[in-house]
Amino acid sequence: MHRESFPILKKNIIYFDNGATSLKPFEVVEAMEDYYYNYGANIHRGDYDISLKASNKYEEVRDKVKRFINADSSREIVFTGGDTLSLNMIVFGFMEDYLNEGDEVLLTKSEHASLVLPFMELAKKKKLVLKYVPLTSDHELTPQNLEATITEKTKVIAVAHITNVLGDVRDIKKITELAHQKNILVVVDGAQSVPHLKTDVKDLDVDFLTFSAHKMLGPTGVGVLYAKEKYLEAMRPILFGGGMNQYFEEDGTVEYKSIPTLFEAGTPPIAEVIGLGRAIDFLEEIGMDNIYKYEKELKEYLVKKLENNKKVILYNKKSESGILAFNLEGVFSQDTAIYLDHYNICVRAGNHCAKILKDELNIRNTCRLSLYFYNTKEEIDKLVEVLENTDELYKIII
Ligand code: ALA
Repeated sequence: MHRESFPILKKNIIYFDNGATSLKPFEVVEAMEDYYYNYGANIHRGDYDISLKASNKYEEVRDKVKRFINADSSREIVFTGGDTLSLNMIVFGFMEDYLNEGDEVLLTKSEHASLVLPFMELAKKKKLVLKYVPLTSDHELTPQNLEATITEKTKVIAVAHITNVLGDVRDIKKITELAHQKNILVVVDGAQSVPHLKTDVKDLDVDFLTFSAHKMLGPTGVGVLYAKEKYLEAMRPILFGGGMNQYFEEDGTVEYKSIPTLFEAGTPPIAEVIGLGRAIDFLEEIGMDNIYKYEKELKEYLVKKLENNKKVILYNKKSESGILAFNLEGVFSQDTAIYLDHYNICVRAGNHCAKILKDELNIRNTCRLSLYFYNTKEEIDKLVEVLENTDELYKIII
């Protein structure tokens, strides 16, 4: 679908590493180029035409993101440097005040470092208890296991909507239902889900949601922090500087701006936000439901084909996203990735920043295929053919 918009695909590359970052369509780069060449001024600071134009374009994207995830208000949308910064802002700007010694935060062993590590650091500082909800034999998070792990000390549940290695899609609506009955807050890492499926924060009733532009056709260096307005009002900025204050005096008197500007200190990633806006248009032109449906179809095709190869071990056949983790029997995952690169097939190998997942999988490293709407069955056929020809692999990697 829409392959003609992606210049990299003309270079004979088969790109299966969309979980790491997506490719960028020409239209997104063009929107950013237009800003740089035609109205590339700073925002919210200039009283001249091109600065006002840039400010308007930037704020229009805030409204667009609000609509895209169905937030109540644009005041709930903060532009950050990316998903990782968004999560750190939640943990050190909100949770640090909200949580007390002995409080429990529930995670799973499938979570990415960007979700686990901020909470680990806060747990050390504030003597919190981190608990990992047991997963099923298919490494999935069930509401039953979650409920059984909740105690009266549980204050926060922090999970990905779709995990980055196993690609399991969590029932976030059920999770928030369970959590809110017990006054537990829910933080959702949407880095792997927002680019692939329709996300409605009101329907899901999440308290916090984070994601990055670069995994959804946008540029690197920009992400989003969504929080319900009452929580954003209670959050402290962790970055201070220009743009986020009304005034300050030498005696230390300071007045800060209101949300969301309060959280956008310094010159923000203006071109990147504009690029994110164009990326959202692009995704909406295709339709998020079409994207998700197509990716699931591709994944099923991929699994069916790879299952015929007895040397391939699949770790998450059942998960309902375009992510598939695998290994070739007896081959180090990085060697498989290097072998595939000889055929211009890009996959990620290693632990994929989910470093405690090894305790679940009993394996430290995997190869990960992560699909997007521009991938095709023909590309999958090529991968399958190359993986069948493992005699060639030993020649290349030894
Ligand atoms: N978090 C990204 C991944 O899963 C980089 O590959």
